[in-house]
Amino acid sequence: MGAVLPSSKYLARKMVAGIDFENSGFIAEYGAGTGVFTDMLLSKRKPDTKLLLFENDASFCEILRGKYKDVSNIQIINDSAEHIGKYLAQHEIIYADYIISGLPFASLPQNISVNILKQARKHVKPGGAFITFQYTLLKKDFIGQFFDNITITREVRNVPPAYVLFCRV
Ligand SMILES: C[S@@+](CC[C@H](N)C(=O)[O-])C[C@H]1O[C@@H](n2cnc3c(N)ncnc32)[C@H](O)[C@@H]1O
Repeated sequence: MGAVLPSSKYLARKMVAGIDFENSGFIAEYGAGTGVFTDMLLSKRKPDTKLLLFENDASFCEILRGKYKDVSNIQIINDSAEHIGKYLAQHEIIYADYIISGLPFASLPQNISVNILKQARKHVKPGGAFITFQYTLLKKDFIGQFFDNITITREVRNVPPAYVLFCRV
């Protein structure tokens, strides 16, 4: 997973803190894993806000499908986050209001990271944000090539402590 442990609730809370849930119709999540951030999104979203989860590991998708089988307005997509445009088009939209990402940019191949970040920039609605966490700031300038308005906060209660990058579009 590129992570020591699943993210904590403290980090999940910080990841969603800047989201305007009242005015969000579509939120995408990248690299949902076992759903730590998803649970937080579900606890805050309006019931008619659609969540699109991207997870390219089939066994995590199975876990997510089981966990959220009774939840409406959630789509679990076993595909790479690079392909968000195709899935938004199925809903006849171009933009998600927010994209929240658990992807390990420090360990993904560079070309995959570039594709994901380019597509994220293209498909976040102006006024929304791409929100990601990283354990170090080594990839901050790389992410900054795609998003020029980044606010950074830190969650020390996560193991290991993590930075949240709120990339305003
Ligand atoms: C560090 S884990 C994060 C899991 C969870 N969100 C958390 O914070 O505990 C990263 C997840 O991203 C998934 N992943 C990696 N590359 C991906 C891609 N290109 N598209 C979608 N998911 C991907 C992995 O399978 C893994 O479940």
